[in-house]
Amino acid sequence: MDIDTIGDWKRTDDCGSLRRDDIGREVVLIGWVNRRRDLGKLIFIDLRDRFGLTQIVFDKESDAISHERASILRNEWVIAVKGEVTPRVAGQENPDLPTGDIEVKVNELKILNETEVPPFQVNGKIDASENLRLKYRYLELRRPALFHNLVMRHKIALSIRNFLNTEGFLEVETPFLAKSTPEGARDYLVPSRINKGSFYALPQSPQLFKQLLMMAGFDRYFQIVRCFRDEDLRADRQPEFTQVDLELAFVDEDGIMDVVEGMMVDIFSKVLGYGVSRPFSRIEYNKALDLYGSDKPDLRFGMELVDVSDLVRSSTLKAFTKVIGEGGVVKAINVKKGASFSRKELDELSSMVTDTGAKGLFWAKLRPDGWQSTLNKFVPPDSRSALEERLGAVEGDLIIFVSDMANVAGEALGRLRIEIGRRLGLVKDGTYSFVWITRFPLLEYDEDEKRYVAVHHPFTAPLEEDIPLLGERPEAVRARSYDLVLNGEEIGGGSVRIYNIGLQDQIFRILGLGNEEAKEKFGFFLEALTYGAPPHGGIALGFDRLVAIMVGAESLRDVIAFPKTQRATCAVTDAPSPVGRDQLAELGLSVL
Ligand code: AMO
Repeated sequence: MDIDTIGDWKRTDDCGSLRRDDIGREVVLIGWVNRRRDLGKLIFIDLRDRFGLTQIVFDKESDAISHERASILRNEWVIAVKGEVTPRVAGQENPDLPTGDIEVKVNELKILNETEVPPFQVNGKIDASENLRLKYRYLELRRPALFHNLVMRHKIALSIRNFLNTEGFLEVETPFLAKSTPEGARDYLVPSRINKGSFYALPQSPQLFKQLLMMAGFDRYFQIVRCFRDEDLRADRQPEFTQVDLELAFVDEDGIMDVVEGMMVDIFSKVLGYGVSRPFSRIEYNKALDLYGSDKPDLRFGMELVDVSDLVRSSTLKAFTKVIGEGGVVKAINVKKGASFSRKELDELSSMVTDTGAKGLFWAKLRPDGWQSTLNKFVPPDSRSALEERLGAVEGDLIIFVSDMANVAGEALGRLRIEIGRRLGLVKDGTYSFVWITRFPLLEYDEDEKRYVAVHHPFTAPLEEDIPLLGERPEAVRARSYDLVLNGEEIGGGSVRIYNIGLQDQIFRILGLGNEEAKEKFGFFLEALTYGAPPHGGIALGFDRLVAIMVGAESLRDVIAFPKTQRATCAVTDAPSPVGRDQLAELGLSVL
């Protein structure tokens, strides 16, 4: 088959732009054959590029040569056409297509490339496995929906840059070939050829460098930056992901939150035309666990967890009284209009509860003639009324109880709350609810490692009033940290930092980092703290997560051009892959 060259043809328009006003113009369009319909004398093709689709027509009567060549075209061939923009025949307009009023009557066709039969259909319904689609990602990216996500990603990044620039932030790049900073995940290591036996770590975040930039006087830094973490993958995690990383000098929590809130209002308005209201609400970590059983509550609906231990303490149900006696709690949620849940649904919810490690749930349906519940036997009528009152439950509602240690009961009910919210359609698509979760614990005790570890990272400042507790009860110390939660997902986390060498030393000691080890790992940083470090703080937003929520994507893979698979591989290139012995030898490595 003859393949043409573009020659001196110039694309005059893209496939999404022609309208009625263009009728009569001679145009050159170039694109992919999205679909071909052969009606004999007339052949119609939907020509596709990133801007849209335009219908082009080959008419045997007016141009027999092009018509004949068009008869061999197949989906995904690349063609260029010259022709005249004409109105579509009355009644054949397509109101769903921006170019739907016109078509291009072709008088010259160039076939620029043909194609093998693609491994899956590019247009129409998705009918291939995700693995296959990831392998041929460049074909999948031809699909408008996925392409649209990446356009949105670009627009959001651009808005963020513009906003931060206006606010006086400077974008500064920090090294990728770095030393490991402890953010809790494993590092990706890069062997050094020149310094055999030594390794760089790809940064889990630019944490220390951005703090050094504050010490250097940059005042307001940002970077839209790739981070690398070797951790187990889930739909909301990728081994390489992007952060919008910020750091500011001379600020406290309010100053940092203020910038982030302003940025969110700005990008939601500019990119989605959505009005976010501020200030965002703030909930302390402990309170969030208490009310929602989660440190990333979805506040698009209520259904808060209520402690009812005092109201059921005198019941005769062992499952309640024993747990309370052992220091546990009985907590409940009121599911509005939940009395219509079927036995099967309640069983499903019950097994969700046991999956979280709780022992199970009790429920009560509020019927016109009283409670329908196994609890009737154990909970006297006046306690039942008191429960209804505390939970605001009325006829038609469903009360669900879980009794266990506070954290277990909280987690179980927290998950139920989300699942029930989903089932009852309490969460409306296209609505956004931000909340700050503040004052996380500074440290937690790691049973495996038998030592305290930092909940956020070791550079986070403790709350001033809790500093005296550092010696006796480190686990009770609250941090000057905050997470930004959007629609029940953690989209960012940050803190006010320690800028005082004495306090930083003390934290390292509590973390079990002896002087030598601290020096070896962070000597450069500790030294920097002694040369006039300003008070500072910052935050990093998970950019992929933010984009995914803004476009309504299920997985981060849907907003990354070339994402990693569940097995942390690149399906397109097959990375990671073995390397030759020579290459290893050069690096002073051998594979066990
Ligand atoms: P943190 O570790 O909380 O903080 O990370 C900040 C945000 O990055 C996103 N995120 C991820 N997104 C996709 N895949 C992953 N594997 C992944 N891991 C994290 C989350 C998270 O909220 N240096 C600190 C920030 C600071 O203190 O300024 C840090 O990295 O949305």
